[in-house]
Amino acid sequence: MEKLVITGGKHLNGEVFISGAKNAAVAIIPAAIMADGICIIDNLPNIEDVASLSSTLSKMGAVCENTDKHTLRVDSTGDITTYAAFEEVKRIRASYYLLGALLGRYKKAEVALPGGCNFGTRPIDLHLKGFRLLGADVRVSNGTVSLNADRLVGTQIYMDQVSVGATINIMLAASMAEGTTIIENAAKEPHVVDTANFLNLMGANIKGAGTDVIRIRGVEKLHGAEYTIIPDQIEAGTYMIAAAMAGGDVTVRNIIPKHMDSLTAKLAEMGVKITKDDDSIRVIAEGRLEGANIKTMSYPGFPTDLQPQMTALLSACSGISVVTENVWDNRYQYVDELRQLGARITVEGRVAMIEGVERLKGAKVSATDLRAGAAMVVAGLFADGVTEIDNIKYIDRGYEEIEEKLSKIGASIKRVEC
Ligand code: EPZ
Repeated sequence: MEKLVITGGKHLNGEVFISGAKNAAVAIIPAAIMADGICIIDNLPNIEDVASLSSTLSKMGAVCENTDKHTLRVDSTGDITTYAAFEEVKRIRASYYLLGALLGRYKKAEVALPGGCNFGTRPIDLHLKGFRLLGADVRVSNGTVSLNADRLVGTQIYMDQVSVGATINIMLAASMAEGTTIIENAAKEPHVVDTANFLNLMGANIKGAGTDVIRIRGVEKLHGAEYTIIPDQIEAGTYMIAAAMAGGDVTVRNIIPKHMDSLTAKLAEMGVKITKDDDSIRVIAEGRLEGANIKTMSYPGFPTDLQPQMTALLSACSGISVVTENVWDNRYQYVDELRQLGARITVEGRVAMIEGVERLKGAKVSATDLRAGAAMVVAGLFADGVTEIDNIKYIDRGYEEIEEKLSKIGASIKRVEC
């Protein structure tokens, strides 16, 4: 087991280079199995979830090879099994994209139900509803989802609620259905657009990704493609929040500033000096920031995946701040850990009320999930003394070289065996 040990109170100064987007990578890698050819996917983050999905594809018969640390070559021209119900698959939620990919190409799939972070219920009913509407027979038993379809036929699908995963999964299956599928009330996240762009490079015919209506004209075959995935807006936001919390002058590079608009606006409102360039944002923070109210929403609203990190920042701002979590029904499990550091937060259902304190005090805390772990790092950079974070396997699932990137800008952080 490993833990991160942080000595707080150091200002952060310098540049952070952002990796490829985890939530694009975990959709695009399964999508590669739809190609009757070879895909080269570049700018992948070097994180656990990517390694796990690459290993899963290999076990299914694809030939996967890392041509370098951030590039994966996937050859799906051989015999691919439509069965993916082994242990590794259960470990990450994004394995569910194998359902849409296999159903699209082979008209059948057998995939273990997803695991992943444990904040609240995380159903996949909207995914399965979409597959049924396309003509698939759907069975769920013993923790495995089985799909079978004589034919997939394009249709109109109205999403009961905005869902990133269901939008992408239905887009995968529909890209090889007969006829046209219209997804309404679709998710608009950058990784939805990135997956559509990759599929179109493979020969799919998808229009409207990034809006709430996506039109997919099914094609018979998809061929190989070379693709570079987008930068990770959540990793970038995490470092912007860390700079605001610790104080200093940090530039996050290799980003798409437009993707950061909701956070950029909020940090500016709190007193952080923000300067945008073509592919970077500079964050200058000194002294105590003003509190603020946050409501998480689907893109382009404030991302739920930055909610824990922002709550950590607000715990040290002046005044009272209110955070409303509108996407997940129980994403405050990390608050108990922040309280160990001295944060004053009360939670009622989806609403957290934060009374800002002048100082936090280092303590032993746990990462309860991926973004909660990131919130502990943000808080530890500010807290007086030493903060130890265990369960950091969660953090490694979504952040490439977090201690190296933070050390380079002046943080006192190290990974130790425990
Ligand atoms: C994706 O999860 C991300 N994960 C999550 O990021 C992110 O929090 C979420 O989108 C929202 O942006 C990946 O992309 C791998 P949803 P996903 O379907 O697709 C409900 C991270 O930290 N819902 O948009 O699972 C659901 O319960 C992770 O990187 C249903 O009810 O999220 C939630 O309340 C954490 N039925 C809401 O919709 C369904 O079939 C949004 O979920 C699907 C979802």
